[in-house]
Amino acid sequence: MKGIILSGGSGTRLSPLTKVTSKQLLPVYNKPMIMYPVETLLKAGIKDILIIIAPDHPGDYMKLLGSGKDFGARFTYEIQDKPEGLAQAFLIGADFIDNDSVCMILGDNIFEDDFSETIRNFKSGAHLFAKEVEDPERFGVVKFDENMKAVKIEEKPKEYLSNYAITGLYLYDNRVVEVAEQAKPSARGELEITELHNWYLKQGDIKVDIVNGEWVDAGTFESLFKANEIARKKHSLLNTKSTKYTKNIKECFNDIIAGV
Ligand code: DAU
Repeated sequence: MKGIILSGGSGTRLSPLTKVTSKQLLPVYNKPMIMYPVETLLKAGIKDILIIIAPDHPGDYMKLLGSGKDFGARFTYEIQDKPEGLAQAFLIGADFIDNDSVCMILGDNIFEDDFSETIRNFKSGAHLFAKEVEDPERFGVVKFDENMKAVKIEEKPKEYLSNYAITGLYLYDNRVVEVAEQAKPSARGELEITELHNWYLKQGDIKVDIVNGEWVDAGTFESLFKANEIARKKHSLLNTKSTKYTKNIKECFNDIIAGV
C-alpha cells in the first residue's frame, strides 16, 4: 500500500502564523504538525509516501523530512499549484499510486489512536474513520443506520445529518484514481473527497469505523491549541521516563517507529 500526506492549502484561517510558514509545519507540542501523520503511516508499515505540498515552502519540508532514507522510508514530493480539492491528490498522485491501494492522511489531522492493524488488514473498497463532534457542519458528515452501517455522506451539510464527522484518514483500493478522474468540481470549485465516498457508498463498498481516541483537525486557533494538548498528553504518558528535553529529528523518528 502507498501513502499520501496531503499537506497543501493556504492555511488562511491560521494567519498571521501561516504568513511565514506552511500550516502543517507549525509546531504541535514538540514537533512540526506534519510529523504526526508521517508517524501514523510509518507505524502502519507504509514506507513509500508521497507528500503533496503547496508551492510556498518546499525547501522547509525537505529540510525537515529529507528523502526518507534516515527513517527507512522513501518520501516523494509533488506540488499542488492551487488548493483545488482533496480529491485532486489522486490525480497528482496517479503515477505514484500506480496499481496499488492507498492510504491518504491530511497533514493537519492529529489522532490519538493507532490505526496500524486496520491499515495493514485493508483489502478493498473504501475505509473511513468517523468521530462524534459537536460542530458537524465544519466537516464531511456520515449518517449511520441502526446497525452503524453508513447510509449517507455529505460535505459540510447545511441541514443536520448526524454528529459523526469523517476524519482525514482514508483507505482506498486502486479504483480511487479512476473515480477521482471522473469527479467534477463542486460549487466552491473543488474536487470534493465526499464525491469519491458517495461513489463507494453507491457500490456498497465502504466501511466507516468510529475513532475512539481524540482527533483534531488543527486548522483553527482553537483546534491547534487542542492538538498541542493532545500531543502533550500522549507524549507525557508514553515518555514519563525520558529525561531528554531536546531531540534531533532522527531520534524523534526512532521514537516513532519504536512507538514512543
Ligand atoms: O479534517 C477532516 C475534514 O477535512 C473532512 O471532514 C472533510 O470531509 C474534508 O473536506 C476536509 O474538510 P476541511 O474543511 O478541513 O478541508 P480543508 O480545506 O481545511 O483542507 C484539509 C487539509 O487538506 C488542509 O490541511 C489543507 C489540505 N488541502 C486542502 C485542499 C482543499 C490541500 O492540501 N489541498 C487542497 O486542495
